[in-house]
Parts: sequence; structure tokens; C-alpha cells
Amino acid sequence: MVAFHDTRAFYDGLAPTYDQIYSDWEGAIARQAAALDRVIRRSLGTGTLRVLDCACGIGTQLIGLAALGYQMSGGDLSPAAVARATAECETRDLIADIVAADMRHLPHQDETFDAVVCADNALPHLLTDEDVLQALHEMRRVARPGAVILVTTRDYDSIIADRPATAPVQRSGVSGRRVVTTQLWDWHPGSAVYDLTHLQVSETSPGQWATTARMATYRAWTRSELSDLARAAGMTDVHWATGTETGFFQPIMIGSPS
Ligand SMILES: C[S@@+](CC[C@H](N)C(=O)[O-])C[C@H]1O[C@@H](n2cnc3c(N)ncnc32)[C@H](O)[C@@H]1O
Repeated sequence: MVAFHDTRAFYDGLAPTYDQIYSDWEGAIARQAAALDRVIRRSLGTGTLRVLDCACGIGTQLIGLAALGYQMSGGDLSPAAVARATAECETRDLIADIVAADMRHLPHQDETFDAVVCADNALPHLLTDEDVLQALHEMRRVARPGAVILVTTRDYDSIIADRPATAPVQRSGVSGRRVVTTQLWDWHPGSAVYDLTHLQVSETSPGQWATTARMATYRAWTRSELSDLARAAGMTDVHWATGTETGFFQPIMIGSPS
């Protein structure tokens, strides 16, 4: 069945339990920020830096980067995710300016940020060359000359030929109750686009389970496709760093405004 699902509704619904995708969200926050910090510092050195996370969700990268001393701004399509990211920062006494915004239309002024981050497969929710180009152009626009732009995506190069039907099961827990998350992938015929059914199965009492299903649509962009679009959006020095090189759990596309 060919369908295009509402990304905002997907993440609005998921925001209250998004952390349960991780077995240890707090650990992931620290690990991911440490890896991104190494990449940013390699390019920009020391000093106080202004960073925009333009698809911050509930804050997995934004919180960790703020805790490391970056001056953080955040944006996300999902108002519910933005509200949770804001609350998570307040709980931790971290300051961040977070707004609901589509990365194709960033509300920030030109050349504002030392670094722009778009992490954990947010960009592949955009399905056409035009939409991705527009988002990358916006990231470039709000980045100051010499800034660094980091986009992390699922490693589609390694799986696109197989067109997998599922993603690995993740297990976590809340107050001693188990939570299992898994994904079904239904590929559109003859296309790199797929509908993802996200299943969260939660143990409500011993032996009793409740399932919540949500759907989103992604496009399995290859690294060369995204690199070409980044160059077309006016970025230079576009290259990819592997997880082995950075310690981040996804490949990172790294570029700079030209
Ligand atoms: C997999 S989540 C990752 C969120 C966050 N980076 C994290 O790791 O917690 C993808 C995020 O991209 C956001 N997103 C998708 N399309 C977007 C768009 N056009 N503009 C801004 N955010 C978008 C979603 O709302 C969602 O929060």
C-alpha cells in the first residue's frame, strides 16, 4: 500500500515515550554528545560555540551538548517533542532556546551558528530532492562562514540492496516493567521510500502487554545522494565520517558553508 504518513503526528504521539526506545537514554545522551563534541572540536577548536540542533526531538543530542557547555538552540517539527525537550532541559538546569520549526523554513537569522546539527535520521523524513535541498540550504544559511554542519543518518548504503522488512528489536524498561520496540518496513514499489510501522509493546502488569502502533514515511537516501544535494545547497568540504571514526552510532555527513 502506498502511503505518506504525517511526520508531525508520529512524533507528537511518540514524544512522551520516545526515551523508551533506548535501553539507557541518559547514557545515550552522554555518549552521543561526546562523539558530536569530538567532531565539532576537531573542526572548530576550543571556545564557546553556538549550536543549532534543527531536529532536536525530545533532546537526545541537544541536552548532552548543552551539558558540555555549548550555547544551544533547538528546533523540531513536533510541538510535543519541543515541549518535552524544553522540560527536560529545565529539569537539568540547562539553558536552551527551543522552538517548533520545520527545518525547511528555519526561523533563525543568516550566519548565526558555529555549528548546525541534524541527528538521528531526521532528514530522511523528507522524501524529495527539492525538500532535502531546501533543508540543507537552510542549515547552510544559518551557519556562519567557517561553521560546521553535521547530518547523521541511518547507514542506508549498507541495507538499501536488501530492502529489509524489519529493524532490530530494542528493549528497555520503565519502573520494572519491560518495553519492547520494533519496526516494520513496507517499501513503496520500485522506490527507496518505505512506510515504517513503529510498535511499542509495554508490559502493563505481569503477563499483560499493550501495543501502540504509529506510522511514518522515510526515504533511504544514500550517502552520495545526500553529498550531491549538500554541495548543490552551497556546502563545501562535504565528506562522511563512519561510526568507527567518530564513536557516533550513525555515519555523519560533515560540511561547511561555501
Ligand atoms: C528520529 S527523531 C530524532 C530526534 C532527535 N534528534 C533525537 O535523537 O532525539 C527525528 C526527528 O526529526 C523531526 N523532524 C522530521 N521532519 C522534520 C522537519 N521537516 N523539520 C524539523 N524536524 C523534523 C521529528 O519531529 C523528530 O523529532
